[in-house]
Amino acid sequence: MTYSELYQKSMAEPLAFWQEQAQAIDWYRFPKKILSQDRHGLWRWYADGLLNTCYLALDRHVQAGRGEQTALIYDSPVTQTLERYSYRQLQDETARFAGVLQQMGVKKGDRVIIYMSLVPQVVVGMLACARLGAVHSVVFGGFAAHELALRIDDAKPKVILTASAGIEFDKIIPYQPVLENALREARHKVKTCIVLQRPVHKWQLKAGRDHDWLQVQASAQPVDPVPVKATDPLYILYTSGTTGKPKGIVRDNGGHAVALRFSMRYIYDTQPGEVYWAASDVGWVVGHSYIVYGPLITGCTTVLYEGKPVRTPDAGAFWRVISEHQVKTFFTAPTAFRAIKKEDPEGLFKEKYDISCLKYQFLAGERCDVATLEWAQQLLGVPVIDHWWQTESGYPMLANPAGVELLPIKPGSAGKPVPGFDIQMLDENFESQPAGVEGAVCIRLPLPPGCLPSLWKAPDRFKESYLSAFPGYYFTGDGGYVDADGYVFITGRIDDVINVAGHRLSTADMEEIVATHPAVAECAVVGVLDSLKGQVPVGFVVLKSGVQVSEKQVQEELAAMVRERLGAIACFKQAVVTKRLPKTRSGKILRKIMRHLAEQKPFSPPGTIEDMAVLEEMENLMADHHIGAWQQEAKAKPGS
Ligand code: COA
Ligand code: AMP
Repeated sequence: MTYSELYQKSMAEPLAFWQEQAQAIDWYRFPKKILSQDRHGLWRWYADGLLNTCYLALDRHVQAGRGEQTALIYDSPVTQTLERYSYRQLQDETARFAGVLQQMGVKKGDRVIIYMSLVPQVVVGMLACARLGAVHSVVFGGFAAHELALRIDDAKPKVILTASAGIEFDKIIPYQPVLENALREARHKVKTCIVLQRPVHKWQLKAGRDHDWLQVQASAQPVDPVPVKATDPLYILYTSGTTGKPKGIVRDNGGHAVALRFSMRYIYDTQPGEVYWAASDVGWVVGHSYIVYGPLITGCTTVLYEGKPVRTPDAGAFWRVISEHQVKTFFTAPTAFRAIKKEDPEGLFKEKYDISCLKYQFLAGERCDVATLEWAQQLLGVPVIDHWWQTESGYPMLANPAGVELLPIKPGSAGKPVPGFDIQMLDENFESQPAGVEGAVCIRLPLPPGCLPSLWKAPDRFKESYLSAFPGYYFTGDGGYVDADGYVFITGRIDDVINVAGHRLSTADMEEIVATHPAVAECAVVGVLDSLKGQVPVGFVVLKSGVQVSEKQVQEELAAMVRERLGAIACFKQAVVTKRLPKTRSGKILRKIMRHLAEQKPFSPPGTIEDMAVLEEMENLMADHHIGAWQQEAKAKPGS
């Protein structure tokens, strides 16, 4: 079957298509209702199906004779550790840890927050929740206490799983201070924490609240998987939106398992027994889908890599892992390649390793610039596939369907729509745009299985945030266009979300923090292009009249505030003092225009602009501060 035939089938007969795909996984009760609507009018897949995601990821493979196959390789250059877990071992550890959680009172539907580093126990923790039908919510280790507290208050977990520390390059990040502050700040009170003590740093256990992970697991009794409904939530993953309050993306059990199994075969061309590596973090959706669930549901070997593309110990780190573990399919963010290219522009480190096992290189998480894609292609000599998705979708919406047929690669495009996704570029009159014309990237409802059915306990916010702008469609937040051959080009977010080193962040969130500085009268935070991280935030601040403070001081104080409240991953380092901000006559700050100014993109100022002169002032200010300088250099040296 060709890609085009498969795609057409998914559009013409979606129910038959997804019923057939559902047969690729095991069910306790195969669903009769393939698609239905819930009491909020939201679409649900496989509503009467019964299954267990942990069973699919572990027990099923052991029963089918894969017990001795390696399920997970833990490769940690930062601790000099290499461990292999067979499917049987991972099943045993998970079943016993599910026993621990059960003893602590966790049952089906309860939430468990996981704030940990990339160690095998994080996978055990996630799968143990799935085994019990409990709902995990992993919080990325780079978020600060306030962000963790927001998530605790929204998810209301019964238990928190954590580790004593994370390791970033050679820096030890103790988690206890973050967790203690978050627990103090949160209104929801958590009575139980299970702590993995890492040798690099000890956690001071609090009697009555904290339990040592390995100790409690040693004496626990294994627990069998609990059948859950396909529509029961498997996890909540918080992501940045256009306000300071993170959105709790819900993933259900049934649609998720079917969609991931489908994607492993048709997009990633990866079969049971093969080695799949996603160099990401379990705090992000890539880690959920393609470190943990996708490869394990498929019966692959997954690699859990606690390291970086560079300096752990060098720019050959990725090539070592690929060669040592015989990785067939590798997935990372373009930032990682930019980091390697910066340190090893000639790709000399690659020569030290035999990576002939590698068949595909997938990139996603942020826009992939053509220079990076071409550099990677030349270096690796395998298809380098840019593909596009988001936390909300859980798996790719645009890709090159390598498992069906490998389409010619067009640099700059994230490929063609994945079967199930009816992607349209719409204008403000909800009209679909012809080839070459940019529009808002929208997906006709219903979304296929695996995509978010709603936000955690907030169906109205879900409708308001995603379904209201373009009736009958889900709005992705991105802009883009289709070319005459049906390839889609994503041009970037058209809301206040930015992507820093593949990490999705909200500028509105940062503005809320910047605005609390006593010297700041008003501010705008915009994402500007960065040669390593893709984008970085820059704050433009208007000071209160009469305030005597230098730009340097304001910048340092604001950087410290954002780091303290949001986390180091925000990479908020630059703040520029300006006399005024471009605004409409009604007082709305023209952030999009500021972004276009920084990117030197042509734009037409709205008729409602308060004063045109401010644009020239802003342009000069940006030039003085070298904002967008990378963009200028890249234009001057095409292909660099
Ligand atoms: N826990 C605690 N702190 C973290 C963290 C974590 N899990 N992840 C990042 N941070 C901190 C970093 O230590 C750094 O702190 P610093 O300002 O004190 O140095 C800060 O957050 C910014 O991190 P980052 O943007 O990642 O920059 P970096 O210089 O540490 O690393 C790269 C740069 C390119 C090597 C790194 O971003 C990378 O490997 N990116 C790959 C992208 C990726 O995996 N994306 C996931 C989505 S697919
Ligand atoms: P996240 O939810 O963190 O995965 O971030 C999703 C957002 O990252 C998308 O809405 C896009 O803005 C951006 N993104 C992800 N992959 C790509 C890609 N291949 N090309 C362009 N942008 C991407």
